[in-house]
Amino acid sequence: MRPYRHALHAGNQADVFKHAVLTLLLDALLATRSEPLVYLESHAGAGVYDLTHGRAFASAEQARGIGRLWTLSEALPELGSYLGAIAALNPDGRVARYPGSPQLARHRLRVCDRLVLFELQEAEASTLQMELGVDPRVSIHLGDGFAGVPELLPPSPAQGLVLIDPPYVSATDFMRVPSCLATAHQRWPAGVYAVWYPRLAGRYSESDRLLRGLQQTFGELLVAELAGLQAAADSGLQGAGVALMNPPSGFDRRLKGLLPRLLRVLRSATGPPGAGPPAGVRTGEVHAAGGQDPGTGWRVEWRRRAS
Ligand SMILES: C[S@@+](CC[C@H](N)C(=O)[O-])C[C@H]1O[C@@H](n2cnc3c(N)ncnc32)[C@H](O)[C@@H]1O
Repeated sequence: MRPYRHALHAGNQADVFKHAVLTLLLDALLATRSEPLVYLESHAGAGVYDLTHGRAFASAEQARGIGRLWTLSEALPELGSYLGAIAALNPDGRVARYPGSPQLARHRLRVCDRLVLFELQEAEASTLQMELGVDPRVSIHLGDGFAGVPELLPPSPAQGLVLIDPPYVSATDFMRVPSCLATAHQRWPAGVYAVWYPRLAGRYSESDRLLRGLQQTFGELLVAELAGLQAAADSGLQGAGVALMNPPSGFDRRLKGLLPRLLRVLRSATGPPGAGPPAGVRTGEVHAAGGQDPGTGWRVEWRRRAS
């Protein structure tokens, strides 16, 4: 199996959705907690990605994701910290460098906070080290994040957020997520956890099983999903979700406010050069199973373990 390269997908619609939820979550956590906070990430990636390779956007996927959001950013004022992190990397206003989740967190966190990042691939980890390693708040571990993150829990101080964001190129990722979170929950039941997962054509049952595993462990989780996303045809990606355990109070309402407008922006026909004809890009079917608003392709719902 070829190693997964997030650079090919950075800034696509599913990535934008994940990063919008992540930055909104960090905003919400920081608004309610004055104590130092620890951000842990099991699958960090390279931290910063070159989106251009000499063109406006390296792929149509990226033009339809961050390209559209950047063009229509005034429609989503609550994403100020996400967009601010992109602006900080691109002082001339053209999105050539795109921040991955560790860089978004680093941009948002305070001087007193810490970031602990795991990445398995040496090349990605060394770019991560180059981009973020100079920051004394950041520690980077080359290794398996599924095993490494739970071992560090609870963090000290026991305030923070854990992001689990595997590539899901191997079916084992769908199984390792719930088992990693079961160990994490044993060690730190009150931690705030976010898990990104894909909706892949013909494989919805794998993400459903993952969610059931999290539900079993935590008792309840908040699920936010977008359907009908446009991605590279060979990826099979039709939609994506973020499952949140122990989110801040009222975060479901914030997501319900954001998702329909985010989806509208991502589906807009306008956009920068490169957002044009769908070469190699397809729209997935709207996921209609029990959603908040399956007709328009988004949902935010609490899932609770039957008692
Ligand atoms: C989806 S990308 C991460 C993207 C990043 N979280 C972001 O949003 O910018 C997944 C990353 O996980 C890495 N990876 C794969 N298996 C891993 C494992 N078991 N432990 C840590 N990293 C892993 C891959 O090399 C890849 O860089």
